[in-house]
Amino acid sequence: MSLSSENETEKEVVEMLAEEGLNATPDAVAEIASQKDPASVVRRLAASCDAVVVTREDARRATDTNATDNGTGSVANTEQKPSTDPPDRPASVGSDGSEPTKTVSSENESENGEPDSLGSDSSSVTSSSSPSSSSPTEQPSNPTSTPTTRTPSEFDVTNDITGESTCTGEYTDFVGYFRDRFNQLSKTLRSRIQPRSVESAGSGGKDVALVGMVNSVRTTSSDRDNRLVEIEDPTGTIRLLLSDDLVGTAEILVVDEVIGVEGRLSDDGGMVFVDEVHFPEVPPRREPNTASRDVKAVLVSDVHVGSDTFVGERWDIFADWLTRQDDVEYVLVAGDLVEGVGIYPGQDEELTTVDIYEQYRECAERFAQLPDDTEIITITGNHDSVRLAEPQPALDERFREPFGENVSFHGNPSVVTVEGVDVLMYHGMSLNPFAESLPHVEIEEPQTAMVEMLRKRHLAPMYGDVRLAPETRDYLVIDQVPDVLHTGHTHTVGAEKYRNVVTVNTGAWQSQTPYQKAMNIQPDVGYAGVLDLSTLELDMKQFAP
Ligand SMILES: [Fe+2]
Ligand SMILES: [Fe+2]
Repeated sequence: MSLSSENETEKEVVEMLAEEGLNATPDAVAEIASQKDPASVVRRLAASCDAVVVTREDARRATDTNATDNGTGSVANTEQKPSTDPPDRPASVGSDGSEPTKTVSSENESENGEPDSLGSDSSSVTSSSSPSSSSPTEQPSNPTSTPTTRTPSEFDVTNDITGESTCTGEYTDFVGYFRDRFNQLSKTLRSRIQPRSVESAGSGGKDVALVGMVNSVRTTSSDRDNRLVEIEDPTGTIRLLLSDDLVGTAEILVVDEVIGVEGRLSDDGGMVFVDEVHFPEVPPRREPNTASRDVKAVLVSDVHVGSDTFVGERWDIFADWLTRQDDVEYVLVAGDLVEGVGIYPGQDEELTTVDIYEQYRECAERFAQLPDDTEIITITGNHDSVRLAEPQPALDERFREPFGENVSFHGNPSVVTVEGVDVLMYHGMSLNPFAESLPHVEIEEPQTAMVEMLRKRHLAPMYGDVRLAPETRDYLVIDQVPDVLHTGHTHTVGAEKYRNVVTVNTGAWQSQTPYQKAMNIQPDVGYAGVLDLSTLELDMKQFAP
């Protein structure tokens, strides 16, 4: 095969991979192109590979599997499970998924205490009435029920900054931090569009592909329907002109995110007339991990013990309900365990407990109401006693003493793998800036921002709007696509399944604060997401007297 025909085949392989929503390293592309039937290898990868970027190893495995399949028919663990799910997005959506997603609305408790229906575009996100909300008198333990035994397995926690922080806030730290972000995210884009560097882009009307970090987005002075975007890579900056149907895409760009573009260079090479924008994205046909047994996790957040608006009575009902659920073996708490002290001016007037140690002691008592044979897995939030800059480390040892052995403490964000299911836990401080920056994102529907996090493959791209610590690695990049993205912070409930990733914000255990009243924010109070780990079905329950 001549060099030119090899290149041609590789180009075809890249196109086939892109059609399947897959990225691949150059050596993986070469590996696939060298096979007798590259198309079948690509199909097999699409069916079996959930890697963010297909590596040469993945390609070889798919090739080997191909041979095995032809020879013996034995292809355990690599076959795609028959999918009964409807497509998450309309067929007309391109591979960059640039159309707005349908959202699941969440509503507050109705006047009679029953939860309103939580609509869904996915059969895996449902709502149901709390068993206690309509009949509080049945809450004391059912005398006919027998004590339950839960046997939670070991779980893994990764992407946790705790004990790993090295940054001092020097200028060089920031350079390294943003370079790592660029490198991680450009990897996911590179094989899809084969970009050049800005420095070597050339000029004179040539077609070009680039990957860069967004520096600015503004309207042009000559035509307000166009958007001028500046991007930067390690070799330089360049302006992009987005017009016509790309203006909507420009409106969902945020500063410091990494994108890929394809278009035509201006004659002087100083601008690209963009034809297509690529986000790092979630592969469209990714098969999620599920537990191999019937077991559930309960997802909550923003407990805010110590506040005079903490809803202890609802927590009592939740704890009593949980005691009777023998298939729930894990409780995940996405930060703001306590109200904290000195978080905002005048906060001490809204505290029932003004001592931070005492707040954590009371929180430990609240957690002790939950069955002690459940694993309670927590991360930190902005009300907890850790640094504000993200990634935040786990709660310091000195606050952990009152908690039971079944409670563990981790950084924000962390990837918690329970029963094989990857749950990316992030408190959610970027959700407000997302809502302020993007026209289709509302804080009452936090899942709309969470979908953007997945598409941008970053939890908090906008430096400055979110306090970020310049670690050597950017822990907020969504390096591996999770099965579940769990957040809190907004105190509003929202859930949506996006490309087989369950996104859920689980509200709060704090009723409306004076600040929220002044801002006209209606919190969703007393909710827990019950996640079936064997199916990833999510059931939002509300607990109320
Ligand atoms: Fe909170
Ligand atoms: Fe918060």
